[in-house]
Amino acid sequence: MAGLRLDKMLAHMGLGSRKDIKKLARAGEIVVNGMVVRDTAQKIHPDRDEVVVGGQPVRYREHIYLMMNKPAGYISATEDRSLLTVLELLSDQYACFELFPVGRLDRDTEGLILLTNDGKLAHELLSPKKHVPKTYLVRIDSMVTADQRLALEQGVTLDDGYRTLPAKLEVVQDKSVEVLLTITEGKYHQVKRMFASVGKKVLYLKRLAIGGLWLDENLAPGQYRELTDEELELLRSQK
Ligand code: URA
Repeated sequence: MAGLRLDKMLAHMGLGSRKDIKKLARAGEIVVNGMVVRDTAQKIHPDRDEVVVGGQPVRYREHIYLMMNKPAGYISATEDRSLLTVLELLSDQYACFELFPVGRLDRDTEGLILLTNDGKLAHELLSPKKHVPKTYLVRIDSMVTADQRLALEQGVTLDDGYRTLPAKLEVVQDKSVEVLLTITEGKYHQVKRMFASVGKKVLYLKRLAIGGLWLDENLAPGQYRELTDEELELLRSQK
């Protein structure tokens, strides 16, 4: 990793503005490789230099990856004048990272949403060319018949004439009103429109998985956590 200005690195890690960091340095609170540092413009190598601020080690991370169980009532956007956004659920600890949601879930949809500041990975996961599978738990207003299941799996024509790609549908309950649908594309309101095309209304929708990454079932709606290294690898291997 190339050298990085110490003040820039600490500001990125949420330790305050460059002015605040200068103050910390003047107070002798910043130590790099065991030496008190006064010049915050000095370059450091985050991968090999040990940085301690106020007695706490600071581990530099350029990118952050969170999985969230999105609750209903929040929109997947970074800001909105009147509606609550998923970013408002994050603690201040993440405020400095300029995170954004990867793709969109409707306001009333729950479940797995990724938040990151890694534009490259987000772009790859969203690229229509990659066909990253996404699995949804869908509760509908009436039973899915065998014919409807076949139609949904082979491809249906949406209200705008678009024909969906092959999908996978598994019935969760005997009554067939709760199903798992896996699609490899992400058209606007796709799941709801797919079911509408066979005359059904979606009553509840929750995303459970993106490209082999499953929502941690310990996360209650509104909760989130960082991805593990293994989970991140799994997402990267979707490319
Ligand atoms: N399909 C929908 O209809 N809504 C979502 O939120 C996600 C997929």
